[in-house]
Amino acid sequence: MIEKCLFPAAGYGTRFLPATKSMPKEMLPIVDKPLIQYGVEEALEAGLHHIGLVTGRGKRALEDHFDISYELEDQISGTAKEAALEGIRRLIRECTFSYTRQIEMKGLGHAILTGRPLIGDVPFAVVLADDLCLNPEGPGVLAQMVELYRQFRCSIVAVQDVPLAETASYGIVEGEVIREDIVRVTRMVEKPKPEDAPSTLAIIGRYVLTPDIFDLIEGTPAGRNGEIQITDALNEQARRGCVMAYRFKGRRFDCGAVAGYVEATNHVYQQGLGRVA
Ligand code: UTP
Repeated sequence: MIEKCLFPAAGYGTRFLPATKSMPKEMLPIVDKPLIQYGVEEALEAGLHHIGLVTGRGKRALEDHFDISYELEDQISGTAKEAALEGIRRLIRECTFSYTRQIEMKGLGHAILTGRPLIGDVPFAVVLADDLCLNPEGPGVLAQMVELYRQFRCSIVAVQDVPLAETASYGIVEGEVIREDIVRVTRMVEKPKPEDAPSTLAIIGRYVLTPDIFDLIEGTPAGRNGEIQITDALNEQARRGCVMAYRFKGRRFDCGAVAGYVEATNHVYQQGLGRVA
């Protein structure tokens, strides 16, 4: 079954400058916990305990976060503050972490391909930690997708309906509805203008991918801005076999943009969802 989860986290996070000048976007906190930790908690909840991070220059804080800080632990040892570290200690105990660096930021497809040595020849999940997904009423989004993978044994992308005016910010899916929450994908279009969008079903930052995706990405030429998108490789997978789009249960916040980040912060604070693990 699926045991590995890849976190592409090498992007520059330019929408958060100057905050992200020397700090990874994925370390931005939602209340008291960094985005990346929410993502790894979601992965572990889904049974994925081998965590691979694709990092880049200036991202060392990510590695330090998933390691023990002896001085700090010594300082707060025996005080009530220790409770704040319980969640991260559990992740360190129960997961393995491996890292590789993307040298040139050539897009999400390229970042996933860079993670190939951490994954090998097995199906795996991908989490973009700047999409915060919460489902406090039930299983997390990745857990829902891993369950679906058991059924379909093919790549799965998480989708949500977005306003027509926003299609140009997403990969948009076209396909055949096979269940109220599942679409068998026939085509995906990267960032279409509203008038060209085949639907309003937008791919968000959760994927389950079969390992043939790596060769398909390798065969994908760079597109706009010299970036290699994942959409082209997924399109080829859909053509050759099957890709399912899944309308997940739960709520997703686009924390890669300031408005979504503030919304997530307010939501987590008001609902008292911080420090859940
Ligand atoms: P984004 O385009 O949202 O992230 O990529 P970005 O480039 O960091 O942000 P802005 O637009 O400049 O503000 C989606 C995800 O893919 C990763 C990012 O880290 C993010 O998690 N990514 C993107 C890479 O790892 N490498 C890349 O070359 C591009």
